[in-house]
Amino acid sequence: MTAITQSVDLDRRGRVAVLTVNNPPVNALSQHVRQGLRDGVKQAIADSAVSALVIVCAGRTFIAGADITEFGKPPREPGLHEVLDLIESSPKPVVAAIHGTALGGGLEVTLACHYRVGVKDARFGLPEVKLGLLPGAGGTQRLPRVVGVEKGLAMMVSGDPIRADEALQHGLIDAIVEGDLAAAGVGFAEKVLAEKRPLKKIRDLDEKLAAVRGKPEVFANFRKSVARQIRGFRAPENIIKAVEAAVSLPFDQGLKRERELFVELLSSSESKAQRYFFFAEREAAKIPDVPSDTPAKEIKKAAVIGAGTMGGGIAMNFANAGIPVTVVEVAREALDRGLGIVRKNYEATASRGRLTAQDVEKRMGLITGTTDFNAVRDADIIIEAVFEEMPIKKEVFAKLDAIAKPDAVLATNTSTLDVNEIASATKRPESVIGTHFFSPANVMRLLENVRGNRSSKTTVATAMAVGRKIGKVPVLVGVCYGFVGNRMLHQRGLQAEKLILEGALPHQVDKVLTDFGFPMGPFAMGDLAGLDVGWRIRKGRGAKSPVADRICELGRFGQKTGAGYFRYEKGDRTPIPDPEVEKIIVDVATAQGITRRHVSDEEILQRLLYPMVNEGAKILEEKIAIRASDIDVIWVYGYGWPVYRGGPMFWADQIGLKALRDKMLEFQKATGDAFWTPAPLLVRLADQGKGFLAA
Ligand SMILES: NC(=O)c1ccc[n+]([C@@H]2O[C@H](COP(=O)([O-])OP(=O)(O)OC[C@H]3O[C@@H](n4cnc5c(N)ncnc54)[C@H](O)[C@@H]3O)[C@@H](O)[C@H]2O)c1
Repeated sequence: MTAITQSVDLDRRGRVAVLTVNNPPVNALSQHVRQGLRDGVKQAIADSAVSALVIVCAGRTFIAGADITEFGKPPREPGLHEVLDLIESSPKPVVAAIHGTALGGGLEVTLACHYRVGVKDARFGLPEVKLGLLPGAGGTQRLPRVVGVEKGLAMMVSGDPIRADEALQHGLIDAIVEGDLAAAGVGFAEKVLAEKRPLKKIRDLDEKLAAVRGKPEVFANFRKSVARQIRGFRAPENIIKAVEAAVSLPFDQGLKRERELFVELLSSSESKAQRYFFFAEREAAKIPDVPSDTPAKEIKKAAVIGAGTMGGGIAMNFANAGIPVTVVEVAREALDRGLGIVRKNYEATASRGRLTAQDVEKRMGLITGTTDFNAVRDADIIIEAVFEEMPIKKEVFAKLDAIAKPDAVLATNTSTLDVNEIASATKRPESVIGTHFFSPANVMRLLENVRGNRSSKTTVATAMAVGRKIGKVPVLVGVCYGFVGNRMLHQRGLQAEKLILEGALPHQVDKVLTDFGFPMGPFAMGDLAGLDVGWRIRKGRGAKSPVADRICELGRFGQKTGAGYFRYEKGDRTPIPDPEVEKIIVDVATAQGITRRHVSDEEILQRLLYPMVNEGAKILEEKIAIRASDIDVIWVYGYGWPVYRGGPMFWADQIGLKALRDKMLEFQKATGDAFWTPAPLLVRLADQGKGFLAA
């Protein structure tokens, strides 16, 4: 065995050279890996005792992509293209032997090889689109030559990997192998030699491209089929263009086109935001005073109190992750109703072919419903999701305190109540934490974990770990009204209400936000959530929201009653502007002495989003969020902020905090409203010419 570089070894097994990449944890394509591959391949080609080569990886996976620590730094030799050229033009057959995930540049390496074999649980994908980029090392040119244009487009535009059986079916791999992988690779290479198989260079394949040549409708149909999911993103269109080039241009010119389209993306604001967000999400896992080696409690059993809207969804998360979960309700009927909805949800997923009937039963089998509180006795984490009323929450926590294991984590799903006060109902406030799920709880990825004053480090570490285990993106926040997400959302809501009185209409306000990239605007969102919830809360508090109150008085509670701010046709969720609502708005404005005027889209956007950024600044200063990027993660995963705009704090930095502060002062001057007072942190950073993220 010869070490070529620190991460690549060259070995010989008979007449087959084996290059092994060993660059933990994921065998990323660092400079020394590229150099090791290049020099190793050169040596093997030069060695007259070698007739074929195998590229294989040590550790848990094949090369799973670029080295992210090299992002944004000047490129270092050798470039990946040079390495791939060398492999593809090798006069001796090169076989890639794949396990784990061959992703991005890793898959592109295999596409330069003449043959590919993989183990049965290997995965293959080009996920560059998720960073707003395209596969820039020949992937857009080679993949369609192997799997065909439609499959290649689908893989690259979704970025989702495929399994080995599918890869075999589409010709992406030549065989599924078992046993020692290097040996299997060598065995395959021996077969290639024995059968005198040709050097299969993907660059020379044309059959699958020829099949769509002169058929522009293939691309037109694809564009149409993904139009909704790629709205606002730039990379998917460039990927499609690159594949069009693969079909219409010779290979080398296609590569050039790929390069141009790649460079265009690299400098685009969308990719910049997406790459920022990639790191933001990873940062959110880091808690300065709770290092990653803090012992977290292993969760073998969970319990959820309350089988309502949230409780059922939360229980599903545990069942989906294979963790048994007990659901406790006060009465049998509520329990049956709640678990009935859970079953219906699973069956709906099964009817779409995304779960088998056995999966449904297996997951339902992991959920045990009961009205006996004592059943939580052996749970490692208990999540309370009962009515949003402090006395009820306190009663539940006092009960849990008496019954739960001494080291169990006691969590509350409250969205507005004080976690510290809830914790005070127990003799173990160190074990109490908020786990704020978003609705629908089985779907939404965001989890705001709310750290109480007394929450222990183990409790925090456990809540973060269990969040990840059940497929969420947990972000740690502090206690305050609305935590991070809803607190900022509230500011947006206040302006939305004002805007319709001043002259805009709900559909105009909503359109500004959907054009910005949100899945829906504040009024459609209100209709979806149900306007009666807020109405009841306002009545309880003696608060008013004149337009919303009058809409509710008419029994218009949103989608569920067929009308709210908008009206809805039966069985259709499309909001339709309603003259009846417009009349209410105009009446209320008149009654308040407001002269309605034309409000520009630009003003709507600024008035909706700048106050959110300002609230974000307060949240940072109060240390409710650990860092600005955490706020962005919350908004992207919890509220549909378009990821190609990074998140509110990143977005604000792109505008420039000085411009943002000045605009707020302008609004303040025009309205005399203290609402527009810029937060001290915003003022300070603007004065210093800094941004939230560079601060
Ligand atoms: N609905 C949302 O969008 C949402 C989002 C985030 C957080 N939350 C929070 O989640 C919690 C639950 O909200 P929801 O929308 O699921 O309410 P819900 O009314 O749908 O469900 C509450 C359930 O708790 C049960 N319950 C009440 N007291 C109980 C007790 N003592 N023991 C056992 N079960 C009891 C009720 O029977 C009911 O089924 C609230 O704190 C709420 O603020 C809700």
